[in-house]
Amino acid sequence: MNIVVGITGGIAAYKAVNVIRGLVLRGHDVHVVATEHALKFVGRPTLEAISRNTVSTDLYDGVAQVRHVAIGQAADLIVIAPATANTIAKLAAGLADDLLGNTVLASRAPLVIAPAMHTEMWQNPATVANVATLRSRGVHLVGPVSGQLTGSDSGVGRMAEPDEIVAAALEVAAGAGAGADTGAGAATAPERPGAGDGAPRIRDLEGRRVLVTAGGTREPLDPVRYLGNRSSGKQGVAIAAAARDRGAHVTLIAAHVEVGLPEGVDVVRVETAAELLAATTVAAPENDLTVMAAAVSDYRPVSVSDSKIKKTATGERLTLELVQNPDILATISAGPRDGRLVVGFAAETADTREELLELGRAKIARKGCDFLVVNGVGWSTGFATESNTVLVLDAAGDIVVEASGSKTSVADGILGVFAAALSGAP
Ligand code: CTP
Repeated sequence: MNIVVGITGGIAAYKAVNVIRGLVLRGHDVHVVATEHALKFVGRPTLEAISRNTVSTDLYDGVAQVRHVAIGQAADLIVIAPATANTIAKLAAGLADDLLGNTVLASRAPLVIAPAMHTEMWQNPATVANVATLRSRGVHLVGPVSGQLTGSDSGVGRMAEPDEIVAAALEVAAGAGAGADTGAGAATAPERPGAGDGAPRIRDLEGRRVLVTAGGTREPLDPVRYLGNRSSGKQGVAIAAAARDRGAHVTLIAAHVEVGLPEGVDVVRVETAAELLAATTVAAPENDLTVMAAAVSDYRPVSVSDSKIKKTATGERLTLELVQNPDILATISAGPRDGRLVVGFAAETADTREELLELGRAKIARKGCDFLVVNGVGWSTGFATESNTVLVLDAAGDIVVEASGSKTSVADGILGVFAAALSGAP
């Protein structure tokens, strides 16, 4: 494979030498694009000797060969290690003020970045938002890990070890080659290969317990009829599978779903909102993250007939009396939480983005959850479709990420945000 290793200006740049070496020893053709600042931490001769290729830095070298785009166009994989907070911000903004920025923008290859910075920088809301943006575009992150940082401090922000970066990057490239889903969102840029279904994922939920509710509840009217909704459960099931792939122990509480249930997750089947409430209130306190993707029936019939309702008995018109179901999301959001996260969904029929946002902000304030995944639904969008477009609001009502594409890639885009929040990022 033709692999571009981007090196940016952090002390961890010296470790990038071992990333290059690991890739070269596995038979790959490695081209280093180093920023000016990176070369203050590690010498060009070292990088050239280890990569066995010329190191590129200057935007104005090789103009005749249109090198500012040629390197990116030729790449099968781009790995940036270390990726500083500044680089992450530039990538999120799509800046091309140096050779590395041009190379990334001109490439359709999978992009893997290994962030390295001090804990405060990693947890800064600007970095959190930038990372969420990159994740939603299908950029893969390796680390950072917790440990000794430059100076006397330690914490999250240390670059992952070179071997881990090499292994993760090659796994991503293998997944991309296997024909990953590139998403179907109409108004979004194509996702990078490796971002969608079938691609290996970063295991940022390792050791976490995740509860997902999915599907539509059904409220019985009589032994053969129920009040239901058009939810297929696809998005919730995709979230459960993606959380499992990111290393979590997953419990899926499934109401009525129209897709196969994922392997490797604990499944609890429920039918009604009352059953869902009971199962969720028991399971939520045992989980670090609860994602309420289920479409819960807001009302249930006041009484359920023991026998089939006969139209000979009810006549020309039938009036059903309904009573409101308890709000499960509001109930678990209000309970004691000790750092556990609760995420709600809001399916809204809105004519404009502003209206959608307004409805979402009112809903998260009402529900009291940490994040709300908002999507527009209509007769032909949102429910029972293969793709989805969502935005995620935080408790303050600010948009933290937008994701579009297959339900699997949307699941990955939003889980990255929740995993970062669980790891202590504000
Ligand atoms: N939800 C819930 N319990 C209910 C109704 C909804 O836990 N009785 C959860 C859903 O799982 C979802 C979120 O609340 O995560 C929002 O669901 P939605 O139907 O959009 O909101 P409602 O509260 O029903 O408000 P409305 O239908 O009036 O918009």
